[in-house]
Amino acid sequence: MHTPIRIAILGLGPAGTALVPEVDADARFTLAAVCDARAAALEAFQTRSNVRCHATLAALCADRAVDAVYIATPTWMHAEHAIAVLDAGKHVIVEKPMAVDVAGARSMVEAARRAQRLLIVGHSQSFEATIRVMRAVIDSGRLGRLRAINNWCYTDWMFKPRDQSEFDRALGGGVVYRQGAHQIDVMRYLTRTSPLAIQAMVGQWDAQRPGDGSYSAHFIFPDQVTGSLFYSGYDHFSATELTFGLGPMGSKDQPSYGTSRRLALTTGEAEATRKYGSVAQSRRASMLTPGKNAAFGILIVSCEHGDMRVGDEGVLVYDDAGRWSIPVDTLSTGRAALLDELARGLTGAPLTHDGLWGLANLEVCVAILAASDQAAQVRPGFNHPVAPPCDAALTGHVNHHMPAI
Ligand SMILES: NC(=O)c1ccc[n+]([C@@H]2O[C@H](COP(=O)([O-])OP(=O)(O)OC[C@H]3O[C@@H](n4cnc5c(N)ncnc54)[C@H](O)[C@@H]3O)[C@@H](O)[C@H]2O)c1
Repeated sequence: MHTPIRIAILGLGPAGTALVPEVDADARFTLAAVCDARAAALEAFQTRSNVRCHATLAALCADRAVDAVYIATPTWMHAEHAIAVLDAGKHVIVEKPMAVDVAGARSMVEAARRAQRLLIVGHSQSFEATIRVMRAVIDSGRLGRLRAINNWCYTDWMFKPRDQSEFDRALGGGVVYRQGAHQIDVMRYLTRTSPLAIQAMVGQWDAQRPGDGSYSAHFIFPDQVTGSLFYSGYDHFSATELTFGLGPMGSKDQPSYGTSRRLALTTGEAEATRKYGSVAQSRRASMLTPGKNAAFGILIVSCEHGDMRVGDEGVLVYDDAGRWSIPVDTLSTGRAALLDELARGLTGAPLTHDGLWGLANLEVCVAILAASDQAAQVRPGFNHPVAPPCDAALTGHVNHHMPAI
């Protein structure tokens, strides 16, 4: 493998551009190329002489000085783009959700196997240090058996500036695909398995912003573990009021009440300008110094002998020793952890978020939609490999901060 690893970014929307500072900060990687169909998106990179700018997927695939591609194009393009890049002999990180349908995701897994290249699905919230620490606590046995995972998200997702395809379920739009992908990922990461049964109701509550804007789902896992997920993207109540102000990137930079809704409904500015324009880009850039305590809504993990949640000081644990915390400030988070998984994977380490992992998450997304459409309990019958154990360093970190009972 070439060192540093030459990575390219395909799709320079909010997700693609968010990876740029992480690549620049990681000495194991160099940003070799970017690719986008929008000329304006490429312009920002023309001052970087060592970054090649490609306007087409074919040109990117033909670029021999690229080892891996981070695919952040719209979800409905992921399968086609990932298969083309894998067939060109490059490793792939594909954004969540992995694809729009299970058949597409399966073809991606098959393409990776055929090409003998890595396929990683991310970034999703289980890359965050807070979630990894919670899993290490569960694995330690300190709190007894895992019993329940409850996660409630209240955000402005539906009123953020968006392309119309982002509301179209057939194209992977709406909050089940786009945000459920994070919630399901966390729930499966902590339970280490897939649900046996799912009941769900998807909501389209606001005709001004048609599309799947909310959902509520209940899960039964093996060993009598339950899960409950709720999402509302309608920009009324914000979960950050109950998460110490912490958002999905650990940042506390929250707009004042109803800002996204007001801008979406009253401003005459084109949605594309609000999404890709320079104001939006500089605002996003200012948020790209994430904190460490990422909170994706209110997440409470309950075990036989204690509960956990994300707090200001790290992961808060409530057990017989009292209320104590495990700091996460020395651990890698989010997209940095995603790059770390690729770098380690290239040295032969087992992947956690591989293609089968992303496929299994997608199957749950699809089952939520089916359970809602059929108004019936769905018993998916999935059977997927359990993710690898926590690494020794993380286990040591968690053990070090555990008070005696
Ligand atoms: N992990 C996260 O936190 C996170 C955050 C946002 C988005 N996402 C995911 O990232 C993906 C992209 O979403 P987004 O909102 O960043 O971007 P987007 O949907 O606005 O578009 C991505 C970019 O792809 C470009 N593009 C479209 N077709 C192309 C083609 N054929 N060739 C080259 N470029 C092309 C567009 O011009 C655009 O710049 C989605 O799958 C979404 O779910 C993940």
